[in-house]
Amino acid sequence: MLEVTSVSAGYGALTVLNDISLKVGDGEAVALVGANGAGKTTLVRTICGLLRARSGRIVKNGTDVTSTPPHDLSQHGLAVVLENRRLFGELSVRENLVLAETVGRKVRRGNMRFAWDEVTALFPVVKERLDSPVELLSGGQQQMVAIARALLLQPDLLIMDEPSTGLAPKVVKDILLVIKALRERGMGLLLIEQNVGIAAEITDRAYVMAVGSIVHEVGPGEWQSFLKDERLIRAYLG
Ligand SMILES: Nc1ncnc2c1ncn2[C@@H]1O[C@H](COP(=O)(O)OP(=O)(O)OP(=O)(O)O)[C@@H](O)[C@H]1O
Ligand SMILES: [Mg+2]
Repeated sequence: MLEVTSVSAGYGALTVLNDISLKVGDGEAVALVGANGAGKTTLVRTICGLLRARSGRIVKNGTDVTSTPPHDLSQHGLAVVLENRRLFGELSVRENLVLAETVGRKVRRGNMRFAWDEVTALFPVVKERLDSPVELLSGGQQQMVAIARALLLQPDLLIMDEPSTGLAPKVVKDILLVIKALRERGMGLLLIEQNVGIAAEITDRAYVMAVGSIVHEVGPGEWQSFLKDERLIRAYLG
């Protein structure tokens, strides 16, 4: 369970997040949607310790992780696929994955949630390119490597910041299939997504963010009525 309580954060004199609270239960899939500049990535960066929370608390599985640095988050079952992926471009796909697997193995003391073979089987394209430098892969292939790497950190909750943005429809479809398979295995998911259609397809409920605040919640079973509510969609998502 991830619990974000009254978190505020920003850059220098700029306050971006105002008193944000949200929860993701064990094995639950929750979306965070909002227009460009709403503060979604800033919230992801704050949860994963790349940005300091100015107030509030972030608790994962009962442990306060508010000040935990990003490289320690896997110890708490949290892995993040950032907006810009942050892979090691000059290293091969295999080397990128081995680094994560080594960390994951240490964190889980060998008791792996996701074995190497399972993870590479999820992404056949990645498996074929294990010895290529990551920077020679297409954007979609790199996104798959980024997700595979996150899984090898052995999370119980995966945070993904707009995994589908900028990718071809076929690749998006492949990635959505993988996310659905992970959900069936009980993986918790916090999905940041501008495409509400995609968010509705793979999550149970959602938080809507605008100008640094949570302005609306889409509860379980409410996705379809939310998608039909043009007034709300226009107001919050542009
Ligand atoms: N490094 C930074 N320094 C200063 N301001 C920033 C920085 N990163 C983001 N901001 C500002 O914070 C606000 C929220 O940006 P953020 O990237 O969190 O939005 P977002 O919801 O992820 O948008 P998008 O959908 O475009 O990814 C914006 O006004 C942005 O200009
Ligand atoms: Mg963003």
